[in-house]
Amino acid sequence: MYDYDLLVVGSANADLVIGVERRPAPGETVLGSDLVIHPGGKGANQAVAAARLGARSALLARVGDDANGRLLLESQRAAGVGTAGVLVGGAPTGVALITVDPSGDNSIVVSPGANARLTPADIRAAGSLLEAARVVSTQLEIPLETVTELVRALPAGTRFVLNPSPPQPLPDEILAACDPLVVNEHEARTVLGDAAGDSPEGWARALLALGPRSVVITLGAAGALVADGRKGTSAHVPSLKVDAVDTTGAGDAFTAALAWRLGQGEDLAQAAAFAARVGATAVTRPGAQESYPTAHEVREETRDQAQDQAQDEAQEEARAE
Ligand code: RIB
Repeated sequence: MYDYDLLVVGSANADLVIGVERRPAPGETVLGSDLVIHPGGKGANQAVAAARLGARSALLARVGDDANGRLLLESQRAAGVGTAGVLVGGAPTGVALITVDPSGDNSIVVSPGANARLTPADIRAAGSLLEAARVVSTQLEIPLETVTELVRALPAGTRFVLNPSPPQPLPDEILAACDPLVVNEHEARTVLGDAAGDSPEGWARALLALGPRSVVITLGAAGALVADGRKGTSAHVPSLKVDAVDTTGAGDAFTAALAWRLGQGEDLAQAAAFAARVGATAVTRPGAQESYPTAHEVREETRDQAQDQAQDEAQEEARAE
């Protein structure tokens, strides 16, 4: 019935990435690695991550009529993402300046460029694309008024997933449409403002009270906490133990995997458990879109982990005897 499992409405950026030993202090200059340019942007990343896993995904975004825009379109097409909704022109393609340190952590500054020109009118003009998608997801690298229009334009029965990144306080109308709202600690604190306490369980309760039908809080290596407002249930979902090389875009892969699997009928905890494995696999490789695994690679990674864990437990038992 639907042409797409997931329609991602969001940003597309050229990621200009430099590896650094440490980030410069204010007024300081440090030397880094050679510059690498990767296709990125939270929206484009989600669309590619879902397609790599086997989802039929499409992207509604805006890029510039320039080399970076072509790089991004090429990456979407190579992954099998539907690009009929990618608009071209109006401003240069968005750019993200990214530093990655030896632990794999990153810092990012985004120049939105064409992303800031994805307008409410562009959403209204994309009615047939919205009708064709089972699940729609977005983030906040496009204007908030465009996200508001998206929520208003959603066909009845379409599931809406929001990762409010970079975070800002959200209007009730957007919060009420989220199923789920996907946040990390920083995003949870920003959305909650003064109401933020100190525990993930407290954030989940407080976020649900703002209107979303469900909430997922990502906790990095500690996995995720999921809370379903309709059922009144919550659960902790573990992650895999991996050696991180580059965390860039891992959250986007998590959200894409979650949104896709929810659309396939999984419950929140099942979908988040799969998404946590996808995100963990992505951090073991450099870049954003280039790091995203296929469903087969996620299964292999999970099987290797289970074998390692069984071996560790056997050694522990042997030592104890
Ligand atoms: O979430 C990672 C993404 O954030 C990068 O690809 C960069 O483009 C910024 O949007």
